[in-house]
Amino acid sequence: MEYRGYDSAGVALINAQGQLNIYKAKGKVAELEAYASDKDTTGTIGIAHTRWATHGEPNTVNAHPHYSESERLAIIHNGIIENYAVLKAGLQKEGYSFKSETDTEVLIQLIEYTQVNKHVDLRTAVQLALQQVIGAYAIAVLDKDHPDTLIAARKGSPLVVGVGQEEYFIASDATPIVEYTDKVIYIEDEEVVKLSTKGQSTKGQSIKGQSTKDEGIEITTINNVQKTPEIKRLELSLSQLEKGGYPHFMLKEIFEQPRTLADSMRGRVNVRQDNIALSGFIDNKERFLNAKRIIITACGTSWHAGLIAMYAIEEFAQIPVEVEYSSEFRYRKPVINRDDVVIAISQSGETADTLAAIQLAKEKGAFIFSICNVIGASIPRLSNSGCYTHVGPEIGVASTKAFTAQVVALTMLALCIGKEKGTMSEEQYLHVVRALGQIPDKIECVLSQNKRIADFAKTFTYAQNFIYLGRGYNYPVALEGALKLKEISYIHAEGYPAAEMKHGPIALISQEMPVVVVAPRCGTYEKVVSNIQEIKARNGRVIAIVTEGDKMVSKIADYVIEVPETEECLTPLLTVIPLQLLAYHIAVVKGCDVDQPRNLAKSVTVE
Ligand code: F6R
Repeated sequence: MEYRGYDSAGVALINAQGQLNIYKAKGKVAELEAYASDKDTTGTIGIAHTRWATHGEPNTVNAHPHYSESERLAIIHNGIIENYAVLKAGLQKEGYSFKSETDTEVLIQLIEYTQVNKHVDLRTAVQLALQQVIGAYAIAVLDKDHPDTLIAARKGSPLVVGVGQEEYFIASDATPIVEYTDKVIYIEDEEVVKLSTKGQSTKGQSIKGQSTKDEGIEITTINNVQKTPEIKRLELSLSQLEKGGYPHFMLKEIFEQPRTLADSMRGRVNVRQDNIALSGFIDNKERFLNAKRIIITACGTSWHAGLIAMYAIEEFAQIPVEVEYSSEFRYRKPVINRDDVVIAISQSGETADTLAAIQLAKEKGAFIFSICNVIGASIPRLSNSGCYTHVGPEIGVASTKAFTAQVVALTMLALCIGKEKGTMSEEQYLHVVRALGQIPDKIECVLSQNKRIADFAKTFTYAQNFIYLGRGYNYPVALEGALKLKEISYIHAEGYPAAEMKHGPIALISQEMPVVVVAPRCGTYEKVVSNIQEIKARNGRVIAIVTEGDKMVSKIADYVIEVPETEECLTPLLTVIPLQLLAYHIAVVKGCDVDQPRNLAKSVTVE
C-alpha cells in the first residue's frame, strides 16, 4: 500500500494473550520494520497503515493506528473528517483527551464514547459514530476485547475486502491482496463490514454478482440496512506488481509503453479492417452524436491527457470541448446541460475531486463517460459508460504509461465520433487509424535512445529552473514534461504554449535555465523554430524534441532528440517519451526517490 502515502507507517496487532500492540514509525514501511523487529509482532488479527498527512505533521504521534481513550480500540483511517473540531470539543467536555493532532483520533474516541454510553457492540458504535461524521473515510477498527472481529467502513475513500482460505484481507485497493487471493468484494459508500472468525470456510462461495455463504462477512449500511456481499474475481497478477529487473517502477513503466499501448488498442483498433470499435461509444452513440458540448474533467497528468483530447475531438468531431480541473469545476457552480457529455479521466479511478465532479454532472443529467485504468474503481462504477485503459497497475507515483494510454483512448473516441458524425474525411480517418497501429513500434524506437538521454541528463542536474515549450497538440506535452520533472527531481519547471513566451517568460531566459522545446515537424513547426531562434538569441540552452531527419532545429538547438514521424494528433505519444526519460534520469542523478517522491501520493482520495 506504500505507493498511496509514505510519510509514516504503523501497525496494530492483537496477540494470543489479548494484548493490543501498536508500533509506529516516521518515514517508510522499512523504518517501521526496523523499529518493530525486536517487538512482539504475533497475532492473528491486525490493521496497518501508511500515511499521507492531512491533519498534523508526519511524525510518530500522528501516525496511525490510533488508540481510543481506554486503549481498548484501535483505528486506521484514510480521508478527512471535516467536522472533527466540533466532535473533538464535545468529547473533550466529556473528559476525553487527545494525544495527536489528527482527525482520526477524534473518530476512534467518538466510537468508544458511543460504545460505552449507549451500551452497544462495536459495529453499532461505528455505525452511530459515522452517522455524525461529515467528510470522507475508509476505516478499520479493532477491539482487543473481541479479537475475533474487525469492523471496516467507507465513504468517499475506497475499500476492498479479500476473501482467502480461512483468512480475510481489507485494503484501499486490490494490489496488496492479489498475493493472497483473487476473490474480492468492493465496499460501497456508507457500508460497514464486519469480518469475523465465525464463517471462515471458503466453500460455497460464488463469484460475481451472487451472494457469499461465508458467514464471516456481514455488510450493512451505516443505518443498519443488510446488504448482500458480492464476490468478484480479480484480473491482476503478482508479476505486474514487481520491478521485473528495472531499478525503479517508473523506468519499468516507461519501457512498458509499447506493450501497454498495444494492450489498450487490442480488440479496439483493427488495422486490417481500418476500423476502431469502442464498445462504450457504440452502446451510447446517440449521446455523443447529439452532444452540443463535451466537458472533460480530470486532475494532474490526466488533465494534460484531457487537453490533448480537446484538440483531437474539436478537429475530428467538431464538438466544442471544455477541459476542467475537477477541483475547480466541482465548486464553481458550472452550467451543465442534460445533453452535455462529461468525460472523466483518472488512472486510479478514485481521485476525490474527479469523483465529486462527475457526481455533480450526473445529478444535472449529463452523460458520464470515464477513461480509467483501475478496474472496478469508484469513478468507472459511477459513470454511465467508459473505456478502461488496460495498462496494468501503475506503481510509480509519477504517471507515465497511464498518460499515453489515456491519450490513445481519447484519440480512439475522437475518431469514433468523427467518423460517425461524418465530420472527418474517410482518408484522414484511415491515416490516423493506421498510424495508431504503428505507435508501439515507434515508441520502441524512441526508447532506444535512453542511454543518450541518460548521458546528457547529467549536464542539467545543476539547473534550478526549466521551461518547457510546445504548441498545438504538443503544448499539453510541454505541461506534462514540466510536471514530471518537478514531481520527481524537485527542480522548478514551467510549461508554456511556445508563443506565450514573449509575453513574460522570455525575461527568465539565461544560460542557467534550460529550455525544452517540443518541436515535431507538423502544425505550427515553423513558428516553433522562430521561438527557438528567439531563445538562442538570448543565450538560452535548448533541448529540442524533433522529428527524425529534422534539419532546421538540429542546427540551432544544443541537444536534439529525434522521434519518428507520425500523424500530428499522435505526436504527443512519441514526444512525451523523451521527457519522461529526461525527468527520470535527472532525478536519479540527483539521488531523488523516483518512485515515491516527497509529499506525493499515487491516489489522491482527499480533496
Ligand atoms: C502526476 C500524477 C498526478 C495524477 C493526478 C490524477 O504524475 O500522477 O498528477 O495524474 O493525481 O490522478 P488520477 O489519474 O488517478 O485521477
